[in-house]
Amino acid sequence: MAKPIKVILVAGARPNFMKVAPLLHCIARHNQQAMNGTPRIEPFLVHTGQHYDEKMSDVFFAELGIPAPDVNLGVGSGSHAVQTANIMTRFEPVCEREKPDWVLVVGDVNSTMACTLVASKMHIRVVHVEAGLRSFDRNMPEEINRLVTDSLANLLLTPSPDADENLAREGVPSSRIQLVGNIMIDSLLANLDKVDQSTILSRLNLQKRRFIYVTLHRPSNVDTKESLTLIMRAFADISCKMPVVFPMHPRTRARLAEFGIEIGKSNIAILDPVGYHDSLALTQSARCVVTDSGGLQEESTFFRTPCLTLRPNTERPITITVGSNRLIKVNEVFEQLDAVLAGSETLGTVPPLWDGKTSERIVESLLKYEDAPVSVGNGTTVSPVQTGSRVPATQSVQR
Ligand code: UD1
Repeated sequence: MAKPIKVILVAGARPNFMKVAPLLHCIARHNQQAMNGTPRIEPFLVHTGQHYDEKMSDVFFAELGIPAPDVNLGVGSGSHAVQTANIMTRFEPVCEREKPDWVLVVGDVNSTMACTLVASKMHIRVVHVEAGLRSFDRNMPEEINRLVTDSLANLLLTPSPDADENLAREGVPSSRIQLVGNIMIDSLLANLDKVDQSTILSRLNLQKRRFIYVTLHRPSNVDTKESLTLIMRAFADISCKMPVVFPMHPRTRARLAEFGIEIGKSNIAILDPVGYHDSLALTQSARCVVTDSGGLQEESTFFRTPCLTLRPNTERPITITVGSNRLIKVNEVFEQLDAVLAGSETLGTVPPLWDGKTSERIVESLLKYEDAPVSVGNGTTVSPVQTGSRVPATQSVQR
C-alpha cells in the first residue's frame, strides 16, 4: 500500500469555503477509488476563524457539505498585523503536531498568507490554489497576500493564462506552475440544482432581470464617508428605475452606521449577508451585478450577467477580456448602471478551464508532484521532506 499523502487544507474567510469544498469532495472520491499503487490523500481541514459569524461561515459549511473542520483556530477580527500574527501562532503547533506533507492554501486572504509563512519556515511544502493573480495595486491587502504567498509556495496552481504570465514575469520557474482552471466554477456547477431551488427571488418579490444585485466590502469603497455616501446616493437614485438588492457585509454595515449615512426614500433592500445558493441565484437572475468582490466577478462571468466592478483594477482580467465585466469609478455608478439598463452591456463568454474539473486536476497535480523534487525558486530544488523528519519550528534553518 502506498503511503498516504497528508494535506492540511486552510480556509479562513467567506471566499475560501467554496474553494475548499470541491477539493474535499474530490479527495474523498479519489480515496474511494485509489488502487494499491496510488496513494490516498489524507485531508485535515483547518478553519482559522478569520470569519466567524453564522452568515459569513457556518452557512457555507452547511450548504456546500463541508465537514466540520478538524481544528478551528478561532482567531477572529483584528488589525492586519494582529490577525496575521494570531493565525501564525495558532497554526504553527497544528503543523508541528500533524506533520503534513503539504499545506494547501486558497485565494488571497490573510489566512492564506499567514499559513503559507508558517509552513514555509517549517519546510512543509505549500500548494497555492488560485496562484498568480495580480491587481498590480499594493494598496490592496490581498495583493500583498498574493505576492507573499506565491513567492513562498512550492506549487502554484493557476486559474487562467494571465496568472501563468504574471508568475513567469516574476521569475517563477515553470516547473512550479500548473494551469488547473477555476476552482470556483467547480462549486458553482456542483450547486446549480440547489441554485434553481433557491426561493430568494420570490421571498424578495423580485422578477428575473428586473433588479440590480450589489455586494461591496472593500476598504477602498466603504471605509471613507465620502465614497460610501456617493455610492449609496447613486443606488438610491437608480432604485427609482429598478430595485436594488444589497446583502451587506458586516464591514459595510458598520461603516454605514458609523458615518450616519441615511438612505432616505428608495427601493434598496439592505439585507444580512446571504448564503451561497441565494447569492448565486441573485447573480444568475440579476439585470446587472455591482460588486468589488473577486468571486462575484467570476460568477457573473459564468452566468453572463453584466457586471460593473467598483474598483480601479482587477486581479481577474479574464473576466473583462472574455467576460461581461467592466471596471467603474465611484462617481459613475449611476450613469454606468443607467447605460446597462438601457441595454449597453456585452455578455462575454465562459473562459477555458472553467469546466468543473479543476479539483480533479489539482488532485492529479498533488499526486504527480508528491515524489518529484520541488523547485523553490531561482532554479534551486529541494527534495520533499519525509513526514516526521521536519525541522522543529523553533530551530533556525539555513536554505
Ligand atoms: C476579508 C478579506 C477579503 C475578502 C473578504 C470577504 C483579508 C485581508 N480580507 O475581508 O479579501 O474579500 O474577507 O468577505 O483577508 N466581521 C464580522 N463577522 C465576521 C467577519 C468579519 O462582523 O464573521 C467584521 C468585523 O468587524 C471585521 C470586519 O468585518 O473587523 C472585517 O473583517 P476582515 O476579516 O478583517 O476583513 P473583510 O473585510 O471581511
